[in-house]
Amino acid sequence: MCGIIGAAGSDGGPDAIDVLFEGLSALEYRGYDSAGVALANSPLEVYKARGELEALRSTVPAAELRGRTTGIGHTRWSTHGPPSDANAHPHTDTDRRVAVVHNGIIENYQSLRDELIGAGVEFASDTDTEVVPHLIASQLDAGAEPEPAFRRAVDRIEGSYAIAAVFEGETGIYGVRNESPLVLGVGEETRYLASDVPAFIAQTDRVVYLEDGEFVHLTGDGVRVTDSSGRPVETSVETVDWDAEDTGKSGYDHYMLKEIHEQPTALRQCLRGRVDELRGEVTLEECSLEDAGRIQFVACGTSYHAALYGAALCRRNGVGATAYIASEYTTDRIPVDEETLVVGVTQSGETADTLRALREAGQAGARTLVVTNTVGSSATRACDETMYIRAGPEVGVAATKTFASQQLALTLLAGELSDSVSYADIKSLRAVPDQIQSVLDTSRARAVAEELVGSDAFFFIGRDLAYPVALEGALKCKEITYEHAEGFAAGELKHGPLALVTADTPVVAVVTGDGSTARKTLSNIKEVEARDAPVVVVTDGQSEAGRYADYVLEVPATDELNVAVVANVQLQLFAYWLANLMGRSIDKPRNLAKSVTVE
Ligand code: G6P
Repeated sequence: MCGIIGAAGSDGGPDAIDVLFEGLSALEYRGYDSAGVALANSPLEVYKARGELEALRSTVPAAELRGRTTGIGHTRWSTHGPPSDANAHPHTDTDRRVAVVHNGIIENYQSLRDELIGAGVEFASDTDTEVVPHLIASQLDAGAEPEPAFRRAVDRIEGSYAIAAVFEGETGIYGVRNESPLVLGVGEETRYLASDVPAFIAQTDRVVYLEDGEFVHLTGDGVRVTDSSGRPVETSVETVDWDAEDTGKSGYDHYMLKEIHEQPTALRQCLRGRVDELRGEVTLEECSLEDAGRIQFVACGTSYHAALYGAALCRRNGVGATAYIASEYTTDRIPVDEETLVVGVTQSGETADTLRALREAGQAGARTLVVTNTVGSSATRACDETMYIRAGPEVGVAATKTFASQQLALTLLAGELSDSVSYADIKSLRAVPDQIQSVLDTSRARAVAEELVGSDAFFFIGRDLAYPVALEGALKCKEITYEHAEGFAAGELKHGPLALVTADTPVVAVVTGDGSTARKTLSNIKEVEARDAPVVVVTDGQSEAGRYADYVLEVPATDELNVAVVANVQLQLFAYWLANLMGRSIDKPRNLAKSVTVE
C-alpha cells in the first residue's frame, strides 16, 4: 500500500520535481514510512529517503533538477522489508538503466529473486519490487527495446501491482495495473499517472481510469493505452467534479478536523436526487436491488462499523442481514447462493480484504454490490453493482466523513431493500446535515477532552444502533491518541469489561431517546459510576442520562433511526481533541495507512 505519481512532459514544460513532490504530499495518506523519486535523464537521477516526505525533500538537490520534465515518485508503507533508504522506491537494476515504483504485492517474488540471484544479480533491498527492474534489465540485456522489456517483465510477475518505470535515455513513462489502482491525468503539456486523483488534481481534472491488465505509455505528447497483447485500447477521458481546494486543509489545522466539519455537505451530497419526500421514495438509480434475498455485508475497520449499522437497519426493516469482518469471510465457511446479495462497504474501494471477499462471493454465485466513495476503484470493477456515498476526497487516515456518509447511504439501501421508507423517514433523513451542523457549532467535546486527557483508558458503550457507534468512537480514539480505547455493547460491560473500570477509565455512553433501550443503558451507566469511573454521556436529553453523568455532550433530539449518525460526531470531536492535546500525529497516525491493499 503505497502511493505512485508520475509526470511526463515535453522540453520547456513544468519541472517534474515540483509536480512529484506535490503529488507525493497528496498521496502520503497511502503510506509515509519512506519516499523517493527518479527523474528521466541520462543517467537516471534517483533519490530516496526513509521517513516522511520532508526527509526526501532535504535529500533532493531540487535546483540541480530544473529542466527535467519527466519522472516518477513513490511514498511507501512497508510490506516486504522495514522502512529504510534501501527499501524505499524507486528501485533500479544494477546498471541503473531503469527505475521502477510499485504499489501492491508481487506474490511470486521469492522464486523470481532466487532465479535472478542464480543468474548473478545482486539485490540492494529486501523488497518484492526489486525483482521488476532486474527482470526488465535481463530483457534489455537480451536486446529488447524498453517497451517489450517492460511488458515481458510484467508477464513474469504474479500478484497485485500498479507499476511505473522510467528508462535511461527515454523521455516517457511506462505503466501497468493489475488489482492496484492507477489513474491517468491528461494535462495540456504534461500527462500524469498516479494511485489516486488528488496527486495531480492541482494540474488537471481530466482523468482516465485504467482497467486491470492495461499498459500505458505516457509522454509529453500524449497517452497510449494498450491491452496485455499490445492492442490499442479506447479510453474515455472523464472530468472529476472536485478541485485542489477540496483536497487542501482550507484553514483547519488537520484534514481530520476539516473532514469532520465537511459532514453536513457530504451528507447532503449523499442524499441528493435519491430521496423523494412527497412520494416517500428512495431511488438508487445506479443499482437495481430487486429480489435480493439474504444480505451479507463485508468490510474492514470503520467501514465494518458502518456495515454493522447497515445490517442492524436491514434487520429492523425485516430483511435478514449480517455484517462480517472481510478478512474473516470465506464462502466455504459462510455459504452463499444466487439469492444472496453481498454488500462490500469500503471507502477506498481498494481494501484487499474486502476486495477478496467480494470476488470470492461473486465467484460462488452471489450478487455483489459495493458501497464506496471512490469512483473507478477496484471494488467497482469487481462487483455487479455500485452505490457511491459521494463524500468527496478524504485525506485524514482516520475515517470520519466517509463513516457518516456510509451510515446514510446504508440507511437508504436498507430502506430500498425493504421498500419500507415513509415520508417521515425521509424528512428526518433530510434533517441530519443540519443537526450535525448544530453539533459542530456547539460541541463541548474539547472542554471534556481537556478534563479527561491523561486517563488510563477510554471505554465507549451503546446499544442497538448506538453499539456500532460506540465501537467506532473507540476506534477513532485509539487510532489517533494511541491510548487504550475499547467499545462494548452496553449490556456486555457486566460480563467482563467491568473488571477494567476504575476512577481513571472514563466511560463514554451513547444514550438517546427515552425507551427501554435508553433505560437499560442508564443502568449500565450506574454500574460504572459505582466504580468511580468518570461518565461522559452523549445524549439528546430525552432520558435522565444527564443526571448521572459527569460530562454531557448534547445532540439534537431526532428520529431514533438517525440519532446515532449525529451522536457519532461528538465522539469524533472528542477523539480529535484528546489527540490534539496529546500532540499526536492526527492525520497520519503511527503505523496506520488509509488504504490497505494487502491481506
Ligand atoms: C484502513 C484505514 C481505516 C479504514 C479501513 C478500511 O485500516 O486505516 O480507516 O476504515 O482501512 O478502509 P476502506 O477503504 O475499505 O473503507
